[in-house]
Amino acid sequence: MKRIMILNGSPRPNGNTQELIKAFTKGAEANGNEIVRFDLQKMNIHGCLGCCKGGKDRENPCVQKDDMAKIYPEYIKADVVVLASPMYYWGISGQMKCAFDRLFAVAEMNENYENPKKECILLMAAEGADADNFAPVKAFYEGLTSNLGWKNLGIVYAGGNMDAGAILGKPEQIAEAENLGKMC
Ligand SMILES: Cc1cc2nc3c(=O)[nH]c(=O)nc-3n(C[C@H](O)[C@H](O)[C@H](O)COP(=O)(O)O)c2cc1C
Repeated sequence: MKRIMILNGSPRPNGNTQELIKAFTKGAEANGNEIVRFDLQKMNIHGCLGCCKGGKDRENPCVQKDDMAKIYPEYIKADVVVLASPMYYWGISGQMKCAFDRLFAVAEMNENYENPKKECILLMAAEGADADNFAPVKAFYEGLTSNLGWKNLGIVYAGGNMDAGAILGKPEQIAEAENLGKMC
């Protein structure tokens, strides 16, 4: 049994990222894993201030007191972190970037800003479908995980999806997300 923390960076409640998350969760729960999910759009999360003054309060390590307080304890306990995001301008959404940057406050609790070691997964919906379209995100994700020393468990690039719910017409993408959940 693993503890899996999903960060949902999509603002669309009935969007394609949401469907990827639902399918992934179904697979992961069938396997007995414990899931906690944060819908970042519904939360009050500010961008990192870069003050480097966090890490003192182990319960809520950032100097900014907002809804990140809910995420920190789950992040610390999680075995797996799932980044679920729409592609926005060949990157992750702003909601996701804001939240992820704020995880630095947890590294600040440790000597040399050492990040906690996690396994991780990327679920991404996008309009474009070819490898070129996903290349910038692939480079970002690979750079992020290798620098953090995190182990990538898998990626679902769900291309060809513009309108909310378009992915429901692509059962193979839904199945890919569910199978990745089952592998956790
Ligand atoms: C602000 C914005 C930027 C986008 N940028 C890209 C992009 O760079 N490449 C792409 O393929 N799709 C892009 N899209 C399309 C979304 O990735 C696509 O609609 C996706 O399915 C949205 O996921 P959601 O339904 O979970 O919100 C963009 C959409 C928006 C609103």
